[in-house]
Amino acid sequence: MTADTLALSRGAIKALPPSGDWEILALLTAGMTVVVVGNPKPMSRTRAAAELVAEKLTGVAPQHVIDVVDLGAGLLGWGDPKVAEAKAIVKGADSLIVASPTFKATYTGLLKLFLDQFGAGELGQVTTFALMLGGSYTHALAPELSLRPVLVEIGASCPAPSLYLLDSDYETSEDLEKWLTVARRFVPAVSS
Ligand SMILES: Cc1cc2nc3c(=O)[nH]c(=O)nc-3n(C[C@H](O)[C@H](O)[C@H](O)COP(=O)(O)O)c2cc1C
Repeated sequence: MTADTLALSRGAIKALPPSGDWEILALLTAGMTVVVVGNPKPMSRTRAAAELVAEKLTGVAPQHVIDVVDLGAGLLGWGDPKVAEAKAIVKGADSLIVASPTFKATYTGLLKLFLDQFGAGELGQVTTFALMLGGSYTHALAPELSLRPVLVEIGASCPAPSLYLLDSDYETSEDLEKWLTVARRFVPAVSS
Protein backbone atom coordinates (compact mmCIF):
# COMPACT_ATOMS: atom_id res chain seq x y z
CA MET A 1 0.00 0.00 0.00
CA THR A 2 1.54 3.28 -1.08
CA ALA A 3 0.52 6.74 0.02
CA ASP A 4 -1.11 7.18 -3.42
CA THR A 5 -3.30 4.11 -3.23
CA LEU A 6 -4.04 4.81 0.40
CA ALA A 7 -5.32 8.27 -0.47
CA LEU A 8 -7.35 6.90 -3.37
CA SER A 9 -8.90 4.33 -1.07
CA ARG A 10 -10.07 7.14 1.18
CA GLY A 11 -12.02 8.59 -1.72
CA ALA A 12 -12.55 12.10 -0.48
CA ILE A 13 -8.85 12.81 -0.11
CA LYS A 14 -7.55 14.71 -3.10
CA ALA A 15 -4.14 15.86 -1.87
CA LEU A 16 -1.43 13.45 -0.85
CA PRO A 17 0.83 14.17 2.11
CA PRO A 18 4.39 14.99 1.14
CA SER A 19 6.52 11.87 1.06
CA GLY A 20 7.66 11.07 4.58
CA ASP A 21 4.86 12.94 6.33
CA TRP A 22 3.95 9.92 8.40
CA GLU A 23 1.85 11.76 10.97
CA ILE A 24 -0.56 12.87 8.24
CA LEU A 25 -0.58 9.36 6.81
CA ALA A 26 -1.50 8.02 10.24
CA LEU A 27 -4.43 10.47 10.37
CA LEU A 28 -5.64 9.31 6.94
CA THR A 29 -5.72 5.70 8.08
CA ALA A 30 -7.60 6.43 11.30
CA GLY A 31 -10.76 4.36 11.74
CA MET A 32 -9.55 1.52 9.57
CA THR A 33 -8.93 -2.16 10.14
CA VAL A 34 -5.35 -3.11 9.38
CA VAL A 35 -3.93 -6.63 9.05
CA VAL A 36 -0.23 -7.37 9.52
CA VAL A 37 0.99 -10.76 8.25
CA GLY A 38 4.43 -12.02 9.23
CA ASN A 39 4.92 -14.95 6.89
CA PRO A 40 8.10 -15.23 4.76
CA LYS A 41 5.80 -16.69 2.10
CA PRO A 42 3.63 -13.95 0.53
CA MET A 43 -0.12 -14.40 -0.02
CA SER A 44 -0.17 -17.27 2.49
CA ARG A 45 -2.94 -19.15 4.26
CA THR A 46 -2.02 -17.09 7.30
CA ARG A 47 -2.85 -13.96 5.31
CA ALA A 48 -6.12 -15.46 4.09
CA ALA A 49 -7.03 -16.47 7.65
CA ALA A 50 -6.21 -13.00 9.00
CA GLU A 51 -8.33 -11.33 6.33
CA LEU A 52 -11.20 -13.71 7.10
CA VAL A 53 -10.92 -13.02 10.82
CA ALA A 54 -10.86 -9.25 10.18
CA GLU A 55 -13.98 -9.42 8.04
CA LYS A 56 -15.90 -11.64 10.45
CA LEU A 57 -14.80 -9.47 13.37
CA THR A 58 -15.68 -6.04 11.95
CA GLY A 59 -18.23 -6.89 9.24
CA VAL A 60 -16.09 -5.47 6.44
CA ALA A 61 -12.90 -6.49 4.67
CA PRO A 62 -9.75 -4.91 6.13
CA GLN A 63 -8.79 -1.67 4.44
CA HIS A 64 -5.07 -2.42 4.61
CA VAL A 65 -3.09 -5.66 4.60
CA ILE A 66 0.62 -5.41 5.23
CA ASP A 67 2.44 -8.56 4.10
CA VAL A 68 5.63 -7.90 6.06
CA VAL A 69 7.74 -9.85 3.56
CA ASP A 70 7.03 -7.09 1.02
CA LEU A 71 9.02 -4.65 3.15
CA GLY A 72 12.19 -6.53 2.24
CA ALA A 73 15.68 -5.68 3.40
CA GLY A 74 14.54 -2.38 4.91
CA LEU A 75 13.49 -4.41 7.93
CA LEU A 76 17.14 -5.13 8.70
CA GLY A 77 17.99 -1.52 9.50
CA TRP A 78 16.34 1.58 10.90
CA GLY A 79 14.52 4.41 9.15
CA ASP A 80 13.59 2.71 5.88
CA PRO A 81 10.80 4.75 4.20
CA LYS A 82 8.65 1.73 3.27
CA VAL A 83 8.86 0.46 6.83
CA ALA A 84 8.03 3.94 8.16
CA GLU A 85 4.97 4.06 5.90
CA ALA A 86 3.83 0.63 7.12
CA LYS A 87 4.33 1.73 10.72
CA ALA A 88 2.22 4.85 10.14
CA ILE A 89 -0.60 2.76 8.71
CA VAL A 90 -0.47 0.40 11.70
CA LYS A 91 -0.42 3.27 14.20
CA GLY A 92 -3.44 4.90 12.57
CA ALA A 93 -5.56 1.75 12.71
CA ASP A 94 -8.72 1.51 14.75
CA SER A 95 -8.50 -2.29 14.86
CA LEU A 96 -5.30 -4.20 14.19
CA ILE A 97 -4.88 -7.92 13.53
CA VAL A 98 -1.34 -9.24 13.80
CA ALA A 99 -0.97 -12.71 12.29
CA SER A 100 1.84 -15.23 11.99
CA PRO A 101 2.28 -18.90 11.17
CA THR A 102 3.73 -20.96 14.02
CA PHE A 103 7.40 -21.62 13.39
CA LYS A 104 9.21 -23.71 16.01
CA ALA A 105 6.59 -23.10 18.71
CA THR A 106 6.49 -19.33 18.29
CA TYR A 107 5.76 -16.53 15.81
CA THR A 108 8.15 -15.92 12.92
CA GLY A 109 11.44 -14.07 13.00
CA LEU A 110 10.14 -12.00 10.10
CA LEU A 111 7.28 -10.66 12.22
CA LYS A 112 9.74 -9.92 15.04
CA LEU A 113 11.84 -7.81 12.66
CA PHE A 114 8.79 -5.66 11.99
CA LEU A 115 7.64 -5.45 15.61
CA ASP A 116 11.18 -4.47 16.67
CA GLN A 117 10.79 -1.36 14.53
CA PHE A 118 8.34 0.03 17.13
CA GLY A 119 9.50 1.64 20.34
CA ALA A 120 8.05 0.64 23.72
CA GLY A 121 4.47 1.90 23.89
CA GLU A 122 4.62 3.42 20.41
CA LEU A 123 1.34 1.88 19.24
CA GLY A 124 -0.54 4.06 21.72
CA GLN A 125 -3.13 1.44 22.70
CA VAL A 126 -4.37 0.46 19.25
CA THR A 127 -6.95 -2.30 19.77
CA THR A 128 -5.08 -5.38 18.60
CA PHE A 129 -5.96 -9.03 18.06
CA ALA A 130 -3.19 -11.65 17.91
CA LEU A 131 -3.65 -14.59 15.53
CA MET A 132 -1.43 -17.58 14.80
CA LEU A 133 -1.91 -20.47 12.41
CA GLY A 134 -0.32 -23.85 13.09
CA GLY A 135 -0.13 -27.39 11.80
CA SER A 136 -1.44 -28.94 15.02
CA TYR A 137 -2.71 -27.92 18.46
CA THR A 138 0.69 -28.62 20.04
CA HIS A 139 1.48 -24.91 20.20
CA ALA A 140 -2.02 -23.52 20.67
CA LEU A 141 -0.87 -21.25 23.52
CA ALA A 142 1.86 -19.66 21.39
CA PRO A 143 -0.09 -16.52 20.41
CA GLU A 144 -1.08 -15.82 24.01
CA LEU A 145 2.31 -16.66 25.53
CA SER A 146 4.74 -15.43 22.88
CA LEU A 147 3.08 -12.93 20.52
CA ARG A 148 0.79 -11.06 22.91
CA PRO A 149 3.56 -9.93 25.33
CA VAL A 150 5.52 -8.38 22.45
CA LEU A 151 2.42 -6.57 21.18
CA VAL A 152 1.69 -5.22 24.66
CA GLU A 153 5.32 -4.07 25.00
CA ILE A 154 5.02 -1.91 21.88
CA GLY A 155 1.77 -0.35 23.11
CA ALA A 156 -0.99 -2.59 21.77
CA SER A 157 -4.18 -2.99 23.73
CA CYS A 158 -5.10 -6.69 23.46
CA PRO A 159 -8.52 -6.99 25.11
CA ALA A 160 -9.51 -10.41 23.71
CA PRO A 161 -7.80 -13.77 24.14
CA SER A 162 -5.28 -14.50 21.40
CA LEU A 163 -6.53 -16.77 18.63
CA TYR A 164 -4.90 -19.97 17.35
CA LEU A 165 -6.27 -21.73 14.28
CA LEU A 166 -5.24 -24.85 12.39
CA ASP A 167 -4.04 -24.31 8.84
CA SER A 168 -6.25 -27.23 7.74
CA ASP A 169 -9.60 -25.87 8.92
CA TYR A 170 -9.36 -22.17 9.71
CA GLU A 171 -12.23 -21.41 7.31
CA THR A 172 -14.70 -23.62 9.15
CA SER A 173 -13.24 -23.54 12.64
CA GLU A 174 -15.64 -23.73 15.58
CA ASP A 175 -12.89 -22.16 17.68
CA LEU A 176 -13.06 -19.10 15.43
CA GLU A 177 -16.83 -18.78 15.83
CA LYS A 178 -16.55 -19.09 19.64
CA TRP A 179 -13.71 -16.56 19.72
CA LEU A 180 -15.71 -14.09 17.64
CA THR A 181 -18.54 -13.97 20.17
CA VAL A 182 -16.02 -12.69 22.72
CA ALA A 183 -13.76 -10.61 20.51
CA ARG A 184 -16.55 -8.65 18.78
CA ARG A 185 -17.30 -6.91 22.09
CA PHE A 186 -13.92 -5.21 21.88
CA VAL A 187 -14.04 -3.88 18.32
CA PRO A 188 -14.00 -0.08 18.52
CA ALA A 189 -17.05 1.72 17.17
CA VAL A 190 -16.45 2.90 13.61
CA SER A 191 -15.46 6.55 13.41
CA SER A 192 -16.15 8.48 10.22
C1 LIG B 1 9.83 -23.71 9.50
C2 LIG B 1 8.47 -24.16 9.97
C3 LIG B 1 8.28 -24.44 11.30
C4 LIG B 1 7.02 -24.86 11.75
N1 LIG B 1 6.86 -25.09 13.09
C5 LIG B 1 5.62 -25.41 13.55
C6 LIG B 1 5.40 -25.59 14.93
O1 LIG B 1 6.30 -25.50 15.75
N2 LIG B 1 4.14 -25.88 15.35
C7 LIG B 1 3.09 -26.00 14.47
O2 LIG B 1 1.96 -26.24 14.90
N3 LIG B 1 3.27 -25.84 13.14
C8 LIG B 1 4.51 -25.55 12.66
N4 LIG B 1 4.71 -25.36 11.32
C9 LIG B 1 3.54 -25.45 10.43
C10 LIG B 1 2.99 -24.05 10.16
O3 LIG B 1 2.84 -23.28 11.31
C11 LIG B 1 1.60 -24.14 9.57
O4 LIG B 1 1.56 -25.02 8.48
C12 LIG B 1 1.13 -22.77 9.16
O5 LIG B 1 -0.24 -22.79 9.06
C13 LIG B 1 1.68 -22.38 7.81
O6 LIG B 1 1.04 -21.21 7.41
P1 LIG B 1 1.01 -20.78 5.87
O7 LIG B 1 0.25 -21.82 5.13
O8 LIG B 1 0.36 -19.45 5.90
O9 LIG B 1 2.46 -20.70 5.42
C14 LIG B 1 5.95 -25.00 10.84
C15 LIG B 1 6.16 -24.74 9.48
C16 LIG B 1 7.41 -24.34 9.04
C17 LIG B 1 7.62 -24.04 7.57
